[in-house]
Amino acid sequence: TSQRTLVLLKPDAVARGLIGEIVSRIERKANWRIAAMELRTLDTATLEQHYAEHVGKPFYEPLMGFMSSGPSVAMIVEGESVIEGIRVLAGKTNPLEAGPGTIRGDFATITRENLIHASDSEESAAREIKIFFPAHA
Ligand code: CMP
Repeated sequence: TSQRTLVLLKPDAVARGLIGEIVSRIERKANWRIAAMELRTLDTATLEQHYAEHVGKPFYEPLMGFMSSGPSVAMIVEGESVIEGIRVLAGKTNPLEAGPGTIRGDFATITRENLIHASDSEESAAREIKIFFPAHA
């Protein structure tokens, strides 16, 4: 089934020069395409909406600081089973539990700075696409 998902390459990915590496892994998957893509420093209002479910958690404030510390790349990726597929490419949230060959497993070490976000369900994808790319919602 063709789906759309919202992907963020977080500020650590951009700062470390990993945009090409990560985009390349996404681009090489058959039957996927990048439908929208923008380099953007995320503002507090956008991040508050995106991370609404995490308000009050101990990692929320440091996460907000990190996510607004520099530019991110926001993308809509479209294609066959892309919602689960990108999360498989990304690996587990904690990079130490992410397998080799995954983006986080290969390049990250701590949970906050885990390089990439990808929507976790069709409902999240629709909600997040509306936040980051209202013109594509
Ligand atoms: P993501 O799944 O994109 O969205 C929530 C983010 O919060 C997650 O990636 C991590 O960057 C961060 N996060 C989640 N859990 C923790 C945690 N226990 N400690 C620090 N950061 C976390």
